[in-house]
Amino acid sequence: MDNTVVIGGQWGDEGKAKITDLLAQSADIVIRYQGGCNAGHTVVYDGEIYKLHLVPSGILYKDKICFIGAGTVVLPDVFKQETEGLKNRGVDLSGLKLSPLAVITLPYHTDVDAWAEDTAKKGKIGSTRRGIGQTYTDKYARCALKIEDLFDEETLSEKLDIILPLKNKTLKSVYGLKEYSKYEMIELCKKYKEIFEPYVCFDWQNLLNEYKNKTILFEGAQGVMLDVDYGTYPFVTSSNPIAGGASVGSGYGPCMIKRVVGVMKAYTTRVGEGAFVTELNDETGDRIRDNGHEYGTTTGRPRRCGWFDSVIARYAVLTGGITTIALTKTDVFDDFDEIKICTAYKDKRNGKIYTEYPTNVFMHKYLEPVYEILDGWKQDISNVKTYDDLPQNTKKYLKRIEELSGCKISIISVGADREQTIIL
Ligand code: IMP
Repeated sequence: MDNTVVIGGQWGDEGKAKITDLLAQSADIVIRYQGGCNAGHTVVYDGEIYKLHLVPSGILYKDKICFIGAGTVVLPDVFKQETEGLKNRGVDLSGLKLSPLAVITLPYHTDVDAWAEDTAKKGKIGSTRRGIGQTYTDKYARCALKIEDLFDEETLSEKLDIILPLKNKTLKSVYGLKEYSKYEMIELCKKYKEIFEPYVCFDWQNLLNEYKNKTILFEGAQGVMLDVDYGTYPFVTSSNPIAGGASVGSGYGPCMIKRVVGVMKAYTTRVGEGAFVTELNDETGDRIRDNGHEYGTTTGRPRRCGWFDSVIARYAVLTGGITTIALTKTDVFDDFDEIKICTAYKDKRNGKIYTEYPTNVFMHKYLEPVYEILDGWKQDISNVKTYDDLPQNTKKYLKRIEELSGCKISIISVGADREQTIIL
């Protein structure tokens, strides 16, 4: 059993798709276990760029099963766009399977998400507007529709009779938004059924049993710092990107997991609102953004950029269950004279030093990073193929990240292509 979970070790966008794509080579099945089309996973294959949102990154291999698990939420129109886009580019989708237990994002979920982003002045999350929080809210409030409901008219009708009166009440009186009639919802659900039908795997229990003794790759979306339990709450997504989420969201027990690859950038980025202690609102931040092409895959938003934060790296290793790090975008620093690493936070009010992550993010406005400065390597490393061939200063940087985060690096990415990867 060589089963691996790939998770984001920061605020998402760490380059998980490239690492998943790489590790998928030796996997038999790739399972996406949480989140929805809020994720944007970019894979470069044969010089072509593929932007995936929900379809697991293993899809570009012809012989893999790619399973979208029960822990995910699915926005039908985006799923349709994504699958049709891939088919039009000649990608074989015969291995793509969708759990009938995944929850459907309905139009009122995206309506309320947009309302919350546009209307709420205080407490705005900076969401991807894909209705993620609202869909998970309904899931846990036990008033969501699951994909399997679309395939049984009687169940769908019964569920809508329970859900809609309550939903419409809040849509109208709380948000002043459009209400949905039962007829309208049933018509929409017919459309959704057509979209999902080719992919729904009603036989998922047999599928999971069949692959139990094969090699499984669990693909996380977002990252530890966006985890609803351990992230920078409330500025988080509404699912569990940590490795623990892989078990819940896939249908396999925790003993099925052997290692957890935490993907981290050689620096830090985040999109949306919320605390970010090492954020650089200056020319250096702009330079990282330009060198690293830091614009969101799903929303196109410029990402906030900052130095590598070993306080969050150490926290992610602990709570994410990370057993090894894949460090990406190391080449972004090729032309930097010096590189900083945040080793701790200092409270500006009283000088208190934090080396462990202080979880109350509302207090982060009082924190400033404590930096250690390392010399840059001033050399193009994007074509380096082995660790030995890396410049001495790059090795020093990597070593320091390992020491501070308490975890070994086993993969170093020096460019977007599959070939630009050093495996240790
Ligand atoms: P939501 O998941 O759309 O509700 O957004 C909640 C927060 O998570 C916002 O700050 C988003 O920008 C962030 N977020 C959600 N998905 C991703 C992702 O795939 N990469 C980076 N940030 C994300």
